[in-house]
Amino acid sequence: MHNEKDGEKDFFEIEGLAGQRILSGTISVGGAKNAVLKVLASSLLFKNEVSLSNVPDIEDVHRILEILEDLGVVVEKKNAHTYKLFTDKINTHIISPEIAKRIRASIVLTGPLLARLGKVSFPHPGGCVIGKRPIDVFMEGFDLLGAEVEEKENSYLIKTKNKNLHGAEIFLKTPSVTGTETLMMTAVLAKGTTVIKNAALEPEIESLGDFLNQCGAKISGLGTPTITIVGGDLLDGANQTYVTMPDRIEAGSFVVLGALAGEDLTVDKCNPTQIDSLLYYLRNSGVKMEVGTDYVRIKGAQPKVFKSFDVKTHEYPSFPTDLQAPLSVFLTQTTGQSFIFETIFEGRLQYLETLVRMGADAKILDAHRAIVEGPTPLHGRQVESPDLRAGLAYVLAGIIASGQTVVHNVYYIDRGYENIIERLKKVGVKIARKN
Ligand code: EPZ
Repeated sequence: MHNEKDGEKDFFEIEGLAGQRILSGTISVGGAKNAVLKVLASSLLFKNEVSLSNVPDIEDVHRILEILEDLGVVVEKKNAHTYKLFTDKINTHIISPEIAKRIRASIVLTGPLLARLGKVSFPHPGGCVIGKRPIDVFMEGFDLLGAEVEEKENSYLIKTKNKNLHGAEIFLKTPSVTGTETLMMTAVLAKGTTVIKNAALEPEIESLGDFLNQCGAKISGLGTPTITIVGGDLLDGANQTYVTMPDRIEAGSFVVLGALAGEDLTVDKCNPTQIDSLLYYLRNSGVKMEVGTDYVRIKGAQPKVFKSFDVKTHEYPSFPTDLQAPLSVFLTQTTGQSFIFETIFEGRLQYLETLVRMGADAKILDAHRAIVEGPTPLHGRQVESPDLRAGLAYVLAGIIASGQTVVHNVYYIDRGYENIIERLKKVGVKIARKN
């Protein structure tokens, strides 16, 4: 298992294709990081056990499992993608700061732990390169559910005011994905009915809610902006298995690779309807593709010129912010001016400066907007992954560039993409992990 320092020492060496369209074969998509992390966190709501399959073998999963073990959960690893967690004994309310600081998503553990034990202590989640990442949606929700928040030096202590949490009507000031998930999980054990309004619509939320319902929760309105939860007892995971849904961001990242350099590239084991917004953009730009129930295939003669287009990130089902950086690499190869409007995070455009150093013509206008002019040939160079999705964008840029690209800080990429080297080599990418 890689630990952070390995990831920081490791780097990827990529020999660019210099614009050749030669990748062929199949890339299979793994289980969704942003679904399974929350189902793992929900294990704290279970009286006995939770079984999970198709779990991606990635750093973020290893981190969350470490925190759960620290809390008293017994983790049985059947294989790299299958786990059984025993949750009858949770013996502390303190989320381990050193591990939690390494994974922002650890914040989703707060709700289930508060609901289970009546209190939870966790470190400031800390922002990251893509933005300050406030947590007011969580705090407002906990308060309405009957908990009080005490801010300490480097951590928060949240306790139920009375014996139990109670149902509430919660309007989210913004449709936060983890905010929706965390408050939904908290409400599962609150006494009474909770209504979450302005809830996020991401498919990972529906996947989580469906599984909790299978195990005894009473959640309705999943996939709509209003989710209603009738609180009850601890859930029962016996004879149930959560089969992790495919990772739509992985799928989208590899479809962009196909659009850039695919001769006959199939991305399979995915759910194309969950990346409709990306497929819409790419089709309108001229990319020829075949879309099946669980695959996208980019094959055959592609136009010499791809039309440039404006990109706006937005909550689901519009274009996801997590695909903004990978798609921008494609924009550098389209003809004309493309305008990028990143509406979700205020710090998610910096990677364009690195693409400019690789030959792209891009300008960051402000914290939310940028312009890309194309097409421009890219040339390889040494680059540092600032975060998971920008790191993947650099890999895509290195693959189409001329010359060699070295991507450092690949821990970030290992956080979200399992066996990325093997899967890319299999379709013809010249890439190696070194340290
Ligand atoms: C989730 O983050 C994902 N992470 C992110 O993926 C993804 O980019 C994001 O949703 C948007 O789709 C996980 O699911 C683990 P938000 P989350 O709360 O929930 C503001 C990746 O690469 N906000 O929906 O943290 C916030 O500042 C990661 O896998 C508040 O103002 O995102 C942002 O502007 C990166 N107050 C907006 O909402 C709050 O309390 C959307 O953030 C919470 C959020």
